Amino acid sequence: MLPRAIFDFVDGGAEDEYTLRRNESAFDAVALLPRPLGGSAERDLSISLFGQRLALPLMVAPTGLAGLLWPDGEAASARAAAAAGTAYCLSHASVCTLEALATAATAAPRWMQTYIYRDREFSREIAERAAAAGYDALVVTVDTQYLGNRERDIRNGFAIPPRLTTGEVARMALKLGWLMRMRSAIPKITFGNYVRPGNAEDLTAMAERMLTLPEPGLAWRDIEWLRGVWRGPLLIKGILHPEDGAEAVAHGVDGVIVSNHGGRQLDGAAAAFDALPGVVDAVQGRASVLIDGGIRRGSHVVKALAFGADCCCIGRPQLWGLAVGGEAGVAHVLDILRREIDLAMALSGLSKIEDIGADILSRPS
Ligand SMILES: Cc1cc2nc3c(=O)[nH]c(=O)nc-3n(C[C@H](O)[C@H](O)[C@H](O)COP(=O)(O)O)c2cc1C
Repeated sequence: MLPRAIFDFVDGGAEDEYTLRRNESAFDAVALLPRPLGGSAERDLSISLFGQRLALPLMVAPTGLAGLLWPDGEAASARAAAAAGTAYCLSHASVCTLEALATAATAAPRWMQTYIYRDREFSREIAERAAAAGYDALVVTVDTQYLGNRERDIRNGFAIPPRLTTGEVARMALKLGWLMRMRSAIPKITFGNYVRPGNAEDLTAMAERMLTLPEPGLAWRDIEWLRGVWRGPLLIKGILHPEDGAEAVAHGVDGVIVSNHGGRQLDGAAAAFDALPGVVDAVQGRASVLIDGGIRRGSHVVKALAFGADCCCIGRPQLWGLAVGGEAGVAHVLDILRREIDLAMALSGLSKIEDIGADILSRPS
């Protein structure tokens, strides 16, 4: 379906992919203790996040280069999320610009993901552009100041700079469905938010430049600085340590996303689900706690909420839906997960999200 190099870019993780696998398998270490006599004939899956209503406790995580999977892929995903009544977070590395995405899906919460760059003025610029374009929240990712060692990408030549072999290019051309779909979009693939008008930089040069931009000595004072720049809800993404959850609150952050970047950065890092209870304990309800990594089933969402998460996010499942069917594919993925969450709640005797608590969990010995 997708050229191998692109499939691996989405599917793969860092090094031995321990963290990638553990993100999913961690959910198996905890079981649900259903109480089927809850007397609920209907369920309400909606939640409130930063004053906005989401139809389900699940939203779309930021994923770079979605536009490689489907023409105008970011807009397609954002529209599907909006139709499902949930939020979409745009990646800093989107193919489209953040301003273009703002015109594509206006009806639902739209968040922008960014980094702290060496050049703080560029960080300020992205935050100000996001504010001007009406983004509802800013997410600062802190686990990617250095790019993880993604060996599949290196093997495939899908690295920076790209070193695609002739064989790999030939194999790409054999993926006819993708090629036909993308033929007019391919020449326009770029990192939209980084394009400088009048600068004739090619994609490789731009990608190389992007690698040098993140602040290598990231510190809490930088979060404090960003807090002063962005007035709306500010989330920090890539927290696993409980004390960092507490620090985030102390530095004025409104939300923490417990995440290891889908196992794409530090291999050997804890699974997001394993780290969740510690962060929830440390945050003590003073900020919203979100989680991503390995969420593949509605029951995973219910387990994460039972451990105290306020909302879950999906990265790859959204991208697989996009690769298969564009907007309709993402809509289908969100609908499958919505139905699974509803069924897991129904079978557990739960009628609303607030009813989901740690009492429905058991840790098998
Ligand atoms: C192809 C791909 C690109 C990603 N790009 C970004 C990004 O630009 N910024 C970011 O903060 N996280 C990025 N992520 C991480 C996701 O936001 C999220 O943390 C992760 O995918 C969650 O794990 P899951 O894929 O198991 O759902 C990316 C993930 C994937 C798979």
